[in-house]
Amino acid sequence: MPDTTPRGLTRLAFGGDYNPEQWPESVWQEDVRLMREAGVTMVSVGIFSWALLEPAPGEYDFGWLDRVIDLLHEAGIRVDLGTPTVVPPVWFYRAHPEALPVTADGVRLEFGSRGAICHSNPHYRAAAANITTRLAERYGDHPALAMWHVHNEYGVPVSACYCENCAAHFRRWLHDTYGSVDAVNEAWGTAFWGQRYAALDQINPPRATPTVGNPAQALDYRRFADATMRENFRAERDILHRLSPGVPVTTNFMTALSQCDSVDYWAWGREVDLVTNDHYLITDGRRTHVNLAMAADLTRSVAGGAPWLLLEHSTSGVNWQPRNPAKAPGQMARNSLGHVARGSEGAMFFQWRQSRRGAEKFHSSMLPHGGTDTRVWREVVELGAGLDALTEIRGTRTRADVAMLWDWQSWWAQNLDWRPSEDHDARERADAFYEALYDRHLTVDFAHPEADLSRYPLVVVPALYLMTEAAGNNLKAYVEQGGTLVVSYFSGIVDEHDAVHEGAYPGVLRDALGLTVEEFSPLLQGERVRVSGPDGSELSGDVWTEFLVPRGAETVWTYADGPTAGRPAITRHRLGEGTAWYVSTRLGHEGLDALLGWAAEDARIAPRADLPRDVEVVHRTGEQGSYLFAINHTAADAKVPLETSGTELLTGERAAGRLVVPAGAVRVVRLDG
Ligand code: GAL
Repeated sequence: MPDTTPRGLTRLAFGGDYNPEQWPESVWQEDVRLMREAGVTMVSVGIFSWALLEPAPGEYDFGWLDRVIDLLHEAGIRVDLGTPTVVPPVWFYRAHPEALPVTADGVRLEFGSRGAICHSNPHYRAAAANITTRLAERYGDHPALAMWHVHNEYGVPVSACYCENCAAHFRRWLHDTYGSVDAVNEAWGTAFWGQRYAALDQINPPRATPTVGNPAQALDYRRFADATMRENFRAERDILHRLSPGVPVTTNFMTALSQCDSVDYWAWGREVDLVTNDHYLITDGRRTHVNLAMAADLTRSVAGGAPWLLLEHSTSGVNWQPRNPAKAPGQMARNSLGHVARGSEGAMFFQWRQSRRGAEKFHSSMLPHGGTDTRVWREVVELGAGLDALTEIRGTRTRADVAMLWDWQSWWAQNLDWRPSEDHDARERADAFYEALYDRHLTVDFAHPEADLSRYPLVVVPALYLMTEAAGNNLKAYVEQGGTLVVSYFSGIVDEHDAVHEGAYPGVLRDALGLTVEEFSPLLQGERVRVSGPDGSELSGDVWTEFLVPRGAETVWTYADGPTAGRPAITRHRLGEGTAWYVSTRLGHEGLDALLGWAAEDARIAPRADLPRDVEVVHRTGEQGSYLFAINHTAADAKVPLETSGTELLTGERAAGRLVVPAGAVRVVRLDG
């Protein structure tokens, strides 16, 4: 069994991508000296170094990497070693131009950036296996080696290739998945629009078509592309396991829904020894710390609740958005420790020293262009000391209060063309429900729709358009056995082939929710409806309404106007020992808060009204004790009630009854007892 924690790392991970090949060797000495000053414990090396390691086919130059790794080792810094298979050298592409990926429109992408990979290409696969083998043979038992970092962020920037090799590979995948062309025809509904295939070799990738293509084909292509990347990951991983036994193998995920939509991380989480994640703040006007918390919760959930590791985030601004604000003083530490609160075993960055050349020279780093006499550097040093003071939390697990269902495959299906309304966005609903739970100070685990939910008092389903029958049965059993379920509209509609479940909507959720939906009635852009509740309360919705018929459920809120005026808007169904709520319009924050308030009462979750908004409180617990993380995202000092007394680890101060968290600060208390 490979280990699941970085080998030889005795503290939390702190460091970043280290790309020393950008600098003369004289700079490396200074790098390592400053890394020690900052308390760096691990760096990621070699992720993009193929062209230097194999400058010509079969010619290797490992000398520089030997020296880098030895230097780090002498300084006691652990190495997360990359396999550089995300950037084959130019000689490779000149010999195998067909290894460059092709878009759905038939454009072959050029060399000169990174990530130009056709994952089906046999020459690419062979070359990747070869360089991985060479690295594993050379460094597999190097004492500095803590873990292997395969590739970089599978799924971005190229999520699928549409070339002839991929077409052939897709046909093989279809054969393995369906067994026959008849089964494919049935699953894809090719009887419609005359798309019937007589043989698998007539099938192509879903390339550009005159109008919308077959949705089930498009969905299967996403599955195929994801599975193909996973095949390549597994090939490298297995080489590393064989030649470098006991060293964990990872690849850096990008679980934030705004950053990668092409990878089914539920499946990937089972393939890696240790889940690692990259996270960057998207400055789109929303509360970035809420999105960060969501990505961290999702990463932990993909890891099955086990400790995971934040492998990249930024010390300050990034450089790939239209506008890239610098982080405010203290924000980096709040971000880093926000990930740690939610299960990360450290905080790593892209990148150690800021580049002078190339595409990312305006991206912040641990050591900025301005050197050590800068705010960023001072905050980096302070964070290093802070993480050192938290060493004892290693291995503890974050405690969640509720679960939210999420499924990448359902998201893919939801995003296919020609839906009732393009304004309905599954990700937006997930974000909105998450934010409402966050504001109720509830820590969220994400769960696959077929996962065991019995330990959660409350399960929220923001938008799960595609649901298998097994998932429907799972939710029904969850409610019958005493759970409280909240389901938002356009869930449970189609099966795994994007075929509408038989009978009335919402297919596999009818029984759990005690209702049917006769017809969807999406609203026009900007149109709003009013929804009135039993106590005279009024909520407002937009985007979606529907003609809902209760069949066992009671109506709690009713449409006051709009196309479905007078009909049920929000219902509650008592089933067995539990309760299932259904909401048929898009509620804003206030509406979601009201709905979740009712549901939380059913679930007997006490409100945390004693915590101010934007003061995040999360618990990590383990054999060594119980830790309370309090992150104050506000500009005012905050008071956090403590159930027991404890010791604050960053300041060493004692706290009893309540903890004062200064404006913008983070506190971590080891609770007594
Ligand atoms: C990541 C990538 C890094 C760096 C970073 C910049 O997606 O893995 O290599 O480009 O973005 O934010």
